[in-house]
Amino acid sequence: MEIQLWKELLDPYEQAVSELVTKFRNLREEYRRKNVYSPIESVSGRVKTVKSILEKMQKKGISFEKLEDEVEDIAGVRIICQFVEDINSVAELLEKRTDMEIRSRKDYLANNKKNSGYRSLHLIIYYTVQTIDGPKKLQVEVQIRTMAMNFWATTEHSLQYKYKGEIPEHVAEKLAAAADAIEILDNEMSTVRHEIMNAQIDSQFETNVIKDILRNIENLYRLDNKREVVKIQNEFYKIFSTHNLEELERFRKQLDILAEGSGAQSIEHYKSL
Ligand code: GTP
Ligand code: MG
Repeated sequence: MEIQLWKELLDPYEQAVSELVTKFRNLREEYRRKNVYSPIESVSGRVKTVKSILEKMQKKGISFEKLEDEVEDIAGVRIICQFVEDINSVAELLEKRTDMEIRSRKDYLANNKKNSGYRSLHLIIYYTVQTIDGPKKLQVEVQIRTMAMNFWATTEHSLQYKYKGEIPEHVAEKLAAAADAIEILDNEMSTVRHEIMNAQIDSQFETNVIKDILRNIENLYRLDNKREVVKIQNEFYKIFSTHNLEELERFRKQLDILAEGSGAQSIEHYKSL
């Protein structure tokens, strides 16, 4: 039997996880920049440890030849959402992408939760990494779940570890009850989803408006009558303190016109400073 070169085997998976985590985080940033609600709250990833791979191979009787094919979660990426509704939005987003292909889907949501109480949506995807030896197509398990589902799964996972997979009946009952409560919580949160979404969009919008205003003030300061610009700045602070988003937006528009007139909006100028 040959020696299994674990590092050589796992390196491309490390690369896949790192690339996918970045890509999914960038999706979130893109929503934010556009003042659109992001169905992605946070993203994390991991490569399965050798210990855990060996355990799974033993448990499921998987040979080394079939390792990469049958251990689907060597690379794992987790996408956390705020609301249950976001889970399918994220799945649709992944389906549309051309840099990955969905191989299979396991839906443990709604009526399909596991006996343990576990809820999540799993997509096994094919993802190709470019290595110095050429392209390598790998499988990655993408788990999509809400923060509440994640809270439950993380806690239950620790207990599985503690009890070596044999959770005593009375603990399992508590966990099942907690899973029901989590489901109720998720459903309750869904009823205020629109309110929360709007609040977040407003907050992101405000952040971006303020960024725009300050950039224009800075540019004007470099070009124009400095005393005038200090006045504009004071005016901004006054409006800012009222937290009136409409006033702030009006001020931004006025400043845009002013900046345009004086050429202060020129990105090139801004960059050269
Ligand atoms: P594994 O051998 O555990 O990977 O299971 P599987 O190949 O039958 O696939 P499944 O979709 O059931 O599980 C994939 C992954 O989902 C697991 O590795 C866990 O991360 C997670 N998972 C599945 N069931 C549970 C559960 O009951 N509790 C927790 N905490 N996580 C679970
Ligand atoms: Mg697993």
